[in-house]
Amino acid sequence: MHLLGISGSLRAASSSTALLMTLAERMAPEITIERGLIGDLPLYNADHDGGPAVARLKAQIAAAPGLVFVTPEYNNSVPGVLKNAIDWCSRPAYESVFKGKPCLVISVSGGALGGVRAQAHLKYILNGMLAEVPPTMEIVVPRAPASVSEGRFTDETVLDFAVKGIRGFAARIGG
Ligand SMILES: Cc1cc2nc3c(=O)[nH]c(=O)nc-3n(C[C@H](O)[C@H](O)[C@H](O)COP(=O)(O)O)c2cc1C
Repeated sequence: MHLLGISGSLRAASSSTALLMTLAERMAPEITIERGLIGDLPLYNADHDGGPAVARLKAQIAAAPGLVFVTPEYNNSVPGVLKNAIDWCSRPAYESVFKGKPCLVISVSGGALGGVRAQAHLKYILNGMLAEVPPTMEIVVPRAPASVSEGRFTDETVLDFAVKGIRGFAARIGG
């Protein structure tokens, strides 16, 4: 099973990216998680096609049997950079690469709530593009930055739970 992983944070020491990359290491080779990059995308403008970075991300999404988002919560919702990437890949409406695409959402935060509002918003956004958001265990990670060391995520309890979640997601979508 091959999945595409997208982090909602661009910063180098991101706990979202650390968690995604550590999970990719833990899941392999049974499940491989390729990284989809969103940091080089231009701001969405319907007058343009977005160029090679958008084309590459769209192709990665189209080719993957499922997506794994790991995103922080910004101001009670998803970060603008993630929404920008989703907007680019959401056209043509209801016929985009997201249509029917199984998506797993993991949220993180620096505080105690684990980004639950961002998680709910992202699922709502994905539903609007006719993506599939299968019912799975909800993976929320509070105080995530405290568990990052040298670019890796270190909280074994969180990692075990998330590994189970991704395995269950993969099994559900046919992996
Ligand atoms: C612009 C901004 C807005 C934020 N808003 C929230 C928020 O609404 N709720 C929350 O729990 N944390 C919020 N945070 C804290 C982030 O969840 C925390 O910094 C997290 O570690 C960022 O993810 P990252 O480590 O992957 O970069 C905010 C951080 C930033 C930079």
